[in-house]
Amino acid sequence: MQHKIHLALIIGSDREGRFGETVARWVERQIAQRDEFTLDVLDPLELSLPTRITRVPVRQVQEFRERIRRADAYIVVTPEYNHGYPATLKAMIDHADEEWYAKPVAFVSYGGISGGLRAVEQLRLVFAELHAVAIRDTVSFHFARRQFDEDGEPVQREIVEGAMVTLLDRLLWWAKALRTARESDPYLLVRS
Ligand SMILES: Cc1cc2nc3c(=O)[nH]c(=O)nc-3n(C[C@H](O)[C@H](O)[C@H](O)COP(=O)(O)O)c2cc1C
Repeated sequence: MQHKIHLALIIGSDREGRFGETVARWVERQIAQRDEFTLDVLDPLELSLPTRITRVPVRQVQEFRERIRRADAYIVVTPEYNHGYPATLKAMIDHADEEWYAKPVAFVSYGGISGGLRAVEQLRLVFAELHAVAIRDTVSFHFARRQFDEDGEPVQREIVEGAMVTLLDRLLWWAKALRTARESDPYLLVRS
């Protein structure tokens, strides 16, 4: 069997007191149950990326880009802020470019009544520009704080775990297919 799919989990919020931590840790635990993946967690609180894009990227940006390049697939955990996604997340996305190309990205969202799905719809447009393949299946938590107990476990565990299995299965399929395609025919050589 080919080596495992290297997955980058991208946390979209660095807000003080963020709820994203709870959601992301649950996602991490779901991934840890699968032996098809290795995992790298990209947390904006630890990355300390600048918002300013400079001609020569600073060391933190270079290291971030390298981690995006190494990944075969991505899961973005995003909240909804004013019907969009956080500026922190956009800054992370924009700091890389061809490192995202020809790879799949899946979304786990949370927020108020919409469960963050409006943020996800916008992210689909952004990732299309980056030649990434957005996975149709999502996991979303509406009124997110009510959806987790004090141990950080979802209250509707079976439903969301089932949705997460579907998301990971679909992500895995695309990650394998695109890795094979990139290896046999490098995407960057495709004429633009
Ligand atoms: C600036 C801001 C704007 C928000 N706008 C929305 C919104 O438009 N729709 C929504 O459902 N929730 C909205 N919320 C609620 C957040 O989705 C919710 O508080 C979520 O937990 C924020 O993620 P975080 O705690 O990980 O930062 C907003 C929260 C913030 C801080």
